[in-house]
Amino acid sequence: MVGGTRLAGEVAVGGAKNSALKLMAAALLATGESEISNVPRITDILIMAEVLRRLGCEVAFDAGTVRVRSPEKPGTEADYDLVRRLRASICVLGPLLARRGYVRVAHPGGDAIGSRGLDMHVAGLERMGAEVSGEHGFVIANAPKGLHGATIWLEFPSVGATENLLMAAVLAEGVTEIDNAAREPEIVDICRMLTGMGAKIDGVGTSRLSVEGVPALQPVRHRTIGDRIVAGTWAYGAAMTRGEVSVRGVEPAFLEIALEKLVTAGAEVTSDPNGFSVRMQRRPTSVDVSTLPFPGFATDLLPMAVGLASLSEGTSFITENIFDGRFMFINEMVRLGADIRVDGHHAAVRGRERLSSAPVRATDIRAGAGLVIAGLCADGVTEVGNVHHIDRGYPDFVADLCGLGASVERTSVPDDLEFRF
Ligand code: EPU
Repeated sequence: MVGGTRLAGEVAVGGAKNSALKLMAAALLATGESEISNVPRITDILIMAEVLRRLGCEVAFDAGTVRVRSPEKPGTEADYDLVRRLRASICVLGPLLARRGYVRVAHPGGDAIGSRGLDMHVAGLERMGAEVSGEHGFVIANAPKGLHGATIWLEFPSVGATENLLMAAVLAEGVTEIDNAAREPEIVDICRMLTGMGAKIDGVGTSRLSVEGVPALQPVRHRTIGDRIVAGTWAYGAAMTRGEVSVRGVEPAFLEIALEKLVTAGAEVTSDPNGFSVRMQRRPTSVDVSTLPFPGFATDLLPMAVGLASLSEGTSFITENIFDGRFMFINEMVRLGADIRVDGHHAAVRGRERLSSAPVRATDIRAGAGLVIAGLCADGVTEVGNVHHIDRGYPDFVADLCGLGASVERTSVPDDLEFRF
């Protein structure tokens, strides 16, 4: 992409990847066809569809709507060849265990943003009566007499563990309390879908969820919430390029702190229930950011916060508290001329007036998007490699950027040809 253009105009965001993936897994909980709308067409969704197909589901995707027809007895095994490509496939663990009393899912391992354990998923399922073991790279969970309600206290409000335990608890016998549960909008979304299927969940949106198990659930129609991380990417893109962007299709409440930081940096932000606008007319002022579970500043927006700080007047301190490898992409930002020093999970970023173009490589989805936006603020032509990472989370990224006036071209072929609907 060529640096120096302001992002300006309106952009619509689609459904949230991190919600839609789990909503598709939740469809395993009821025999019959569930319909999930506002699903983004991205690689991760295509892989999840393949995971479900191999479990015996019929999956179809049409104009943003996914239909998952789940059989009476879904399969019980998810292989490494798919799980390694999509860590989120671990979310079939809870629903399959609840329905079949046995499941064998490949251990996804770590990835570029960190080590990413499963101990809280496992401990919670054990509290509900499952025997869980690890063998030959698989997580094997067994509950021949079914799962029962339990009191579970999560050491950390893990998004994935909360989702897996919720999906196990809705069909368990008795009441399960999940304390210190994650409160991300995606958790609220899955609770709403499960409730629509007949589940009984109290405390939705709080850190204490109480689930009364029911014997069976019914298929449902559900609309996925808007993608707050894609929306946040545009918000930070507008501020970094000193542009003016109106973002539609997302509740601004999902991004309150991220937008508040932009105001502190000097942007004007206006919101309504279905979106917001960001206008930046001057060089941003430095702001400190510390990532935290929702409602804190989202770790997935950390690359955008680093990008903003790289161009701000003054020094910003950026702290990552969720993933130990999130700073992997910092070296790429330094190649673009950013002045960043990292000490453990803290980064001191001294802002520069402009960045300078260089070939860089995406290390993960969010870093990839962050590097592209940073490239828009660099003198000359920046080339970002490994853009298949961006395809995992941003549908139509290049088209949206061009629609906002950026000069961006894709030179490699999308990498999702293996997985089609
Ligand atoms: N953790 C453990 N043990 C566990 C579970 C988690 O140690 O049993 C640790 C993880 O290693 C990590 C921290 O707890 O350090 C938080 O992990 P969490 O379970 O909350 O994250 P996740 O479910 O693996 C989801 C999103 C991520 C997003 C995080 C945090 C999906 C598919 N992924 O991951 O999204 O960053 O929540 O909000 O929902 C992305 O979309 O690019 C992405 C990485």
